[in-house]
Amino acid sequence: MHNNKRIVIGSLLLLVAVMFSSAVIVEAGVSKQPNVPFKFAVGKKKYQASCSVCHGKWLGGTEQGPPLLHGFYKPSHHGDPSFYRAALKGVRAHHWKFGNMPPINGITRKDMDAIVPFIRWLQQAKGLY
Ligand code: HEC
Repeated sequence: MHNNKRIVIGSLLLLVAVMFSSAVIVEAGVSKQPNVPFKFAVGKKKYQASCSVCHGKWLGGTEQGPPLLHGFYKPSHHGDPSFYRAALKGVRAHHWKFGNMPPINGITRKDMDAIVPFIRWLQQAKGLY
């Protein structure tokens, strides 16, 4: 009897340990982001300075803007020119309910020459296309 109790407690502890460690693994998987190649470092910096407040640090979207990882934003649906246009001229809300995207203050075509390749690279790294 005494031994059985030990076995029960022992297996419960084991179960908790297994659950805990898989939770840790899942968590690590969620927060893991791809390593940004050096040639996209400037684009990443500029994206995170000008776009991530709304589109999320890693394109996942926020309460203020849509995820750029959505199928809408593949090159076949929104080509690179629409990214330049969005940043320089703003976007009238049409796909979502976040409201309009304002033209981004101080952004230049040259900034976009760095930002767009970073976004395209990250979309691919995350398996969008
Ligand atoms: C203040 C919030 C905000 C910021 C900052 C912002 N966006 Fe947006 N963006 C939006 C919203 C909201 C939409 C969705 C409009 C809609 O309903 O289709 C959008 C849409 C877009 C689109 C889709 C354009 C289209 O033609 O449908 C692109 C591309 C885009 N953003 C790129 C960028 C880039 C690049 C930056 C940084 C230079 C940026 N955004 C910064 C809010 C923002």
